[in-house]
Amino acid sequence: MARNAIILAAGKGTRMKSKLYKVMHKVAGKPMVGHVVDQLRDAGIDNVITVVGVGAETVKDYVGDRSQYVLQEEQLGTAHAVLQAEELLKDVDGTTLVISGDSPMFRSETIESGFDYHETQDAKATVITSILEKPFGYGRIIRNEAGDVTRIVEEKDASEEERAAKEINTGTYFFDNKALFDALQEVGNNNNQGEYYLPDVVGILRQRSEVVAGYVLADQIEAIGVNDRVALSQAEALMRARINTEHMKNGVTFVDPENTYIEADVEIGSDTIIEPNVIVRSRSKIGSEVTLTSGTVIEDSIIGDGSVITSSTIEASVLKNEVTVGPDSHIRPNSTLEDGVHIGNFVEVKSSTLGKNTKAGHLTYIGNAEVGEEVNFGAGSITVNYDGKHKSTTVIGDRAFIGCNVNLVAPVEVAADSFVGAGSTITKDVPTDDLAIERGEEKLIKGYVSKMRKRFTEEDNN
Ligand code: UD1
Ligand code: CA
Repeated sequence: MARNAIILAAGKGTRMKSKLYKVMHKVAGKPMVGHVVDQLRDAGIDNVITVVGVGAETVKDYVGDRSQYVLQEEQLGTAHAVLQAEELLKDVDGTTLVISGDSPMFRSETIESGFDYHETQDAKATVITSILEKPFGYGRIIRNEAGDVTRIVEEKDASEEERAAKEINTGTYFFDNKALFDALQEVGNNNNQGEYYLPDVVGILRQRSEVVAGYVLADQIEAIGVNDRVALSQAEALMRARINTEHMKNGVTFVDPENTYIEADVEIGSDTIIEPNVIVRSRSKIGSEVTLTSGTVIEDSIIGDGSVITSSTIEASVLKNEVTVGPDSHIRPNSTLEDGVHIGNFVEVKSSTLGKNTKAGHLTYIGNAEVGEEVNFGAGSITVNYDGKHKSTTVIGDRAFIGCNVNLVAPVEVAADSFVGAGSTITKDVPTDDLAIERGEEKLIKGYVSKMRKRFTEEDNN
């Protein structure tokens, strides 16, 4: 049977007090709606429709072709939102899942077992519910004496007795698709918020003597619906714990998991050790037996096996195996560091390739450079790649030795097995096997210091 899903994402999210659409707020580096879309994909759902509001281009741009879209011009409530998908779905046989874009914690396994449960119950609707000690803010599940779900009442419309119910509506439901669109025609807005409530479909189906099932979540964490920044921070902490636990199970050591920030799509190999206060973002891949020390930030990069990154920042770059970086260095986008490269402290690399075992131990800037293997950069050496308008390339061959405080004024080529003397400003290509040196001749002024000190003493005495 066809499995469809509707993601509700048209609400601006007034309670977030934000310019950003609610579902675009990030949890573990990924917009909430992205978590939902990815879990639906993992649950193997064929047909996903996202309901977006006016101006929600950011949502569409982000979700892209993973979903179809329908527009809800005015936010008249969740039932009205689902109705916008009527044109696309009304003739479809099968089950339709409705889920809120502000529910980032739902897991694909839960979605799959919910579908299975719903289909075996022969129900027209199955509501995913949760039992919460503090049900505040959620719609409450009302059951009859036989224990069947009879309706859902919103907090704002509930009597005191109804409000005491601890079973809540997670906002995720499975419906017989045709029964859903049929029942939606009957939903009114005669309630305290003047909105068309999707949960009312449950009561409508019951009045038609249809079967409605309740599926209680095993893990309450999945129930979280993020309406404000407090809930956002709770979701963030719960997601962090979930992600880090998964990595620990896969053999990664976290010295202090509560204070280590690994975004949702990061991969990490076994026997890697991560110290507190490390941040690894977007689609980074960290190899095995890597060490990331405190203060390291890695964004969208690949770090090979056995590498050690000490309190440094790596952005959009590829570091191969056994590379060492830091402390306090910065690898900027579009750089490749081959096996065994050593970058010490206070070094910046940008848009450059460094061959195997090349070393830059201290205070170096390497930008727009193609560097061979086993090159040595002395302290303070710099590729002068920018003339105020253009970026130019420096090419350095294997085993070249770049002395301390050298300026390589690009475009320039330093051949393999050549040597550049300390302090030189190099503007002409350096051939293989040669020493290039550009320096004023050293002068000695005999007895200068004692003469100067004598003059200073005389000045003080006058
Ligand atoms: C909703 C449920 C509540 C449930 C809770 C679970 C209703 C009336 N209430 O309340 O029973 O306990 O979720 O988290 O459904 N949206 C639209 N168009 C609209 C209104 C909302 O697309 O016109 C979207 C929102 O962007 C959001 C989702 O629907 O992603 C839910 O709306 P929200 O306002 O967050 O509902 P809750 O008050 O949380
Ligand atoms: Ca909500």
